[in-house]
Amino acid sequence: MQNFFNSGLTQQQFLDEYWQKKPLLIRQAFVDFKSPISADELAGLACEADIESRLIKERGAEPWQVTCGPLEPEDFESLPETHWTILVQDVDKHIPSLQPLLAPFKFIPDWRRDDLMISFAPEGGSVGAHTDSYDVFLLQAMGTRRWQIMHEPVYEAKLVDGIELKILAEFAADETWELEPGDMLYLPPNIAHYGVALNDCMTFSIGFQAPRQIEILDSLVNTCLEKGLDGRYYADRDLALAEQGSELTPQAIQRTKDLLHDLIEQSDDLLAESLGKLVTKVKPSLYEVAFLPDYELSTPHLAKYFTQGDCYKNHYLQFAWSSHAEGGWLFSGGESYAVDKAGIPFLALLCEKTVLTEQDWFDINKNQSVVDVLRALILNSGWFFKIEVEYYDD
Ligand code: SIN
Ligand code: CO
Repeated sequence: MQNFFNSGLTQQQFLDEYWQKKPLLIRQAFVDFKSPISADELAGLACEADIESRLIKERGAEPWQVTCGPLEPEDFESLPETHWTILVQDVDKHIPSLQPLLAPFKFIPDWRRDDLMISFAPEGGSVGAHTDSYDVFLLQAMGTRRWQIMHEPVYEAKLVDGIELKILAEFAADETWELEPGDMLYLPPNIAHYGVALNDCMTFSIGFQAPRQIEILDSLVNTCLEKGLDGRYYADRDLALAEQGSELTPQAIQRTKDLLHDLIEQSDDLLAESLGKLVTKVKPSLYEVAFLPDYELSTPHLAKYFTQGDCYKNHYLQFAWSSHAEGGWLFSGGESYAVDKAGIPFLALLCEKTVLTEQDWFDINKNQSVVDVLRALILNSGWFFKIEVEYYDD
């Protein structure tokens, strides 16, 4: 049984008792933790064009003033001594050397993970009391932050009017903790929390994503349309005499529900494909940096490139896979790639490895469907070679 950090719980106990259920504070989850990134480096990231960042000033031109990045040098010059926060999203992708920090969270499915957000704040810095719609692990990386929470989830939050930030109008803490470097607080969705920096402070938020019903339905419909599946027609063999011909009767609604249930009941493979495509979509804020230029890649080229260097995973893209009776799919960048049955054991390899060597290529090359998937992934930026590649000349 794997231990869940230094909590005295196993990973399974954490999942059973806390995950999506209740908050958990873990003292020294990361023993002797030192932030692998400095406040200056974080500020540098917040100034870059293709990196999503925010500066929040509690006492700015208006209360809780939000400035969206890229931040300018003037934004830093005019900062007060206290009560502000810089937040940078997707730092795990922009600085892939931080990825090992996420490895201990791999007992939760990769596709549920969203990003590593890092904040820096001097004394008093806070983003106010709020709820999030996702699970988050708040790892204290530098300095001290006081976290206050309400144990009862807040589903219909009353918000402070007239400001951009979503801050709770009513917050009455029933628990207060001071977190030092290495301490970590897990919060399920909808738990009201309020963190205030007590001194120069960095907090790492490892956030998780969960698709909504409507997004899954939308993806299912799109997958059906792409495959030219238009489904069965509504049928009403049990139609009763209409009292008023214009009414959409409760029976008609019930038949519609049955028709849709039926579609979902018979669509495990379609659902897997729709979910895989949905959860591996690249966020719009990362479009500019996630995709690499196209290049020429026939199978013989692949063999040649592997003799010249390793192939690397693109950390901006999310990967997942699933199998069905006849084969499997790999999902990445919102696309699905099919392999045959013999290719299934390679799917985890292509999703979880970060580097493919020539030896991996020799294994992959035994299965044409996997070679085709790797080739398609390279063309779609999922994997790439660092060596000079031949570009399409059009
Ligand atoms: C912060 O790092 O200041 C805020 C993190 C959060 O509340 O999600
Ligand atoms: Co939060």
